[in-house]
Amino acid sequence: MENNPKYIPWAKPDFWGNEIKYVTDALESSWISGGAYLDRLETDFRKLLKTKHVLAVSNGTTAIHLAYLGLGLKPGDEVIVPGFAFMAAANIALHMNLKPVFAEVDAETWCLSAKNLSHYISSKTKAIVAVHTYGNVCDIDEIMKIADEHGIAVIEDCAESLFSKYKGRYCGTFGKINTFSFQATKTITTGEGGLVVTDSDELNKKMALYRSHGMDRGKKFYWHDLPGHNFRLTNFQAAIGVAQLEKTDVILIERKRVYEQYKKRLSTKDGIAFQKIKKETDPVIWAIAVKLEAKYFAQGRDKVIEQMKAKGIETRPGFYASGLLPIYESHSLPVCEDISKNVISLPSFPSLQNEDIAFICEELLKLRM
Ligand SMILES: Cc1ncc(COP(=O)(O)O)c(C=O)c1O
Repeated sequence: MENNPKYIPWAKPDFWGNEIKYVTDALESSWISGGAYLDRLETDFRKLLKTKHVLAVSNGTTAIHLAYLGLGLKPGDEVIVPGFAFMAAANIALHMNLKPVFAEVDAETWCLSAKNLSHYISSKTKAIVAVHTYGNVCDIDEIMKIADEHGIAVIEDCAESLFSKYKGRYCGTFGKINTFSFQATKTITTGEGGLVVTDSDELNKKMALYRSHGMDRGKKFYWHDLPGHNFRLTNFQAAIGVAQLEKTDVILIERKRVYEQYKKRLSTKDGIAFQKIKKETDPVIWAIAVKLEAKYFAQGRDKVIEQMKAKGIETRPGFYASGLLPIYESHSLPVCEDISKNVISLPSFPSLQNEDIAFICEELLKLRM
């Protein structure tokens, strides 16, 4: 299919700036593990997010792991995670013998719902992971309020929502610890990579130790203050991130164009619903996803994915809801399952051309029955 001249991938990283120059510079400098680009990436994000501390890490999953370690979560502690989302927060919970408690999402925004959130809280709950799915933003004020009332930490998982704003403020600046991913499809990429962000000096110090085997270089070599891990990002990966960040304006303009083009062509069509964007939210949509109504797409979402593939268009299903995945202990969450079974995400990357979007939309609309 990739050889078909009409093949349109679901995602593609775009390099519009100094990526090759900076990577070459990092390699030539011989600083390939730590180095100046790592420092710069952390500083640039600290300034952008107006946050006190930023730690670059190997990916968005280790970022969550580090957040759990920073909070001192212990086996048996409960972590509330959405039942519809990419499951990194649940997987790391299981790795640490924590219990992921799956919560319902909002039927319109598809993000963790604040409405019945307190029902999932028990005396063992230590954290709520607010995943800002597809670039939309959870009702974070309400979630923070509930968490504060119960003395529970909020971790914002912003892997899919870099640059999205809530009430004019970047997401990733509300929770106690917040995480980002720079995986290949993400809004800014370093191939694999991520960030952990916090305003707490104490949490940052602890997470910095966990990131690198519990060793504090300022003290003694090979002295382990705690049983840490290696969650470090490399300098040449950071070099790509620094170059990408310099092109933020272009990336955002192009991502917004792609989203608007899809909206223009699909939002008024029967049988197709977009994720609701609330008035408080100014999102940078990472993956443009639509929910297909069974009345119009009687063949079902999975068949639609096959039919689109036959036209040379790569799409993806919605995430499997927790209740549909046997590896998790999850009660049935009807809203999560409905979204999971009916959502399809469409090619979404900044260099996607308007004529390709027109073709994708036409082909999708032709599949209505
Ligand atoms: C919401 C969410 N959290 C965490 C991750 C994990 O990030 P990474 O792939 O960088 O480990 C992803 C996926 O990439 C994600 O979409």
